[in-house]
Amino acid sequence: MRRPLVLLAALPLLATSACGFLGSDEEADIQVYSARHYDLEQAFEAFTEETGLTVEFLNGDDDELLERLKAEGEGTPADVFITVDAGMLWNAAEQGQLAPMDSPVLEEAVPADLRDPEGRWAGLAMRARTVVYDPEAVDPSELDPTDTYAALGDPRWRGRVCMRDETASYTQSLVASLIDLHGRERAQEIVESWVANDVQIMSNDVELLETIDAGGCDAGISNHYYLARMLEEDPDFGVALYWASQEGEGVHVNISGAGVVEGSDAPEDAQRLIEWLATDGQSQFVDGNHEFPVNPEVEPEELIAGFGDFERMPVDAAAYGSLNAEAVEVLDEAGYR
Ligand SMILES: [Fe+2]
Repeated sequence: MRRPLVLLAALPLLATSACGFLGSDEEADIQVYSARHYDLEQAFEAFTEETGLTVEFLNGDDDELLERLKAEGEGTPADVFITVDAGMLWNAAEQGQLAPMDSPVLEEAVPADLRDPEGRWAGLAMRARTVVYDPEAVDPSELDPTDTYAALGDPRWRGRVCMRDETASYTQSLVASLIDLHGRERAQEIVESWVANDVQIMSNDVELLETIDAGGCDAGISNHYYLARMLEEDPDFGVALYWASQEGEGVHVNISGAGVVEGSDAPEDAQRLIEWLATDGQSQFVDGNHEFPVNPEVEPEELIAGFGDFERMPVDAAAYGSLNAEAVEVLDEAGYR
């Protein structure tokens, strides 16, 4: 007997979506807690068609859903937890909320740095956090190909750069990667140099891109798929993408990924869904949000393939997770807000 999804009164109300089961007496075979705010229905419906297993999901943000899993413990209705940040996957595993998967399928499909060495989670979609610019105001030769992120602190960029707010996991994981690469002291210097350049802080990546398009900033740092969305709506959108640090450490990438919930009562079906999302369902999972497949056998969709090939930094989920608190401190101490 499956447990129904019941909203806990003590937790904030989350938006719910389902493939036709939530709220009815029937319950789905696999229940997913998802921090992805992108189209999931299509992929889950295709999975159901192929396997006969039904899926329903509950949306929330990473932190909310993790707290919810911890509060529910063994009584959780959830089978799969999907997050949008590598540090958060590490964190969920560290806190004992994810059960190890023994999966040759995932070992084959997902590069080693994009999955947990102990099998507690696997990356499913890759997003690049790179530099974007106004081609009318910036010649790409102005951008430093060795350490493009740090170089935005050069005085030539004073008053010209937009970045994302300090509360975003995207910002925190980027800064954690700088600490991981360069040490805390150098990371602190870099963030201080951005602040000294009067970087304009934006509350989301769409606002950031629109500000660049409108001439309010010359350059910024954004996840690639937001730009892809804008270009899909308007091919003449006035922002271009620059693959950061191609002569240095490579582009900072993050992953959206999943693990089997420790308290799941359907761990085999849960693992089957995750394996499917990394293989047969890869395109359906990543393309709707213009993300890069983690599976090297799967081609990215056309629009982002048009951004060209790039070298990426290895993802170090343990570093992004364990350095998160330090990254928050660095941002705070630098007065980044
Ligand atoms: Fe996002």
